[in-house]
Amino acid sequence: MHIHRQERIWMTIGLAMLVVFAAFITTAAVVDGFVPPSHVQSIDPTKVSETPPFDKPGLRKVANGEYEAYYVARIFSFTPAEIDVPLGSRVTFYVTSADVEHGFSIPETGVNTMVTPGWVSQVSHTFTKPGTYLLVCNEYCGAGHQLMSAKVEVR
Ligand code: CUA
Repeated sequence: MHIHRQERIWMTIGLAMLVVFAAFITTAAVVDGFVPPSHVQSIDPTKVSETPPFDKPGLRKVANGEYEAYYVARIFSFTPAEIDVPLGSRVTFYVTSADVEHGFSIPETGVNTMVTPGWVSQVSHTFTKPGTYLLVCNEYCGAGHQLMSAKVEVR
């Protein structure tokens, strides 16, 4: 089969770029120990329900107007299913998965992170508007993905 010379040049450049990119990714992952963004703590995904604080998911007050919310994502729900946040509070969400990759998103707040088994995702938000916020899974995780949601009540 005849391959045109210019085509061969471009194929070589394309392949060379793939090799270079793969080398960058591998170096970053292995040498620099990169982990998924916002995922700072690791956890054994098979022992989520026995690992504090995820053995008792929920909202905890850490100071006036400061809260931490611990969430476990599993097909096809979030625990806790509902939290009550006083208006004006800053909430730091800590989320992990007991099974597969999930999403954790509260539209119109900037809270949006992937939830990867083995890692704890962390994201903060200050709730300055009262209302019922819908918390949704925005990573396709299986047949019941569209049912996977929870509520954040701000008042
Ligand atoms: Cu969990 Cu989609």
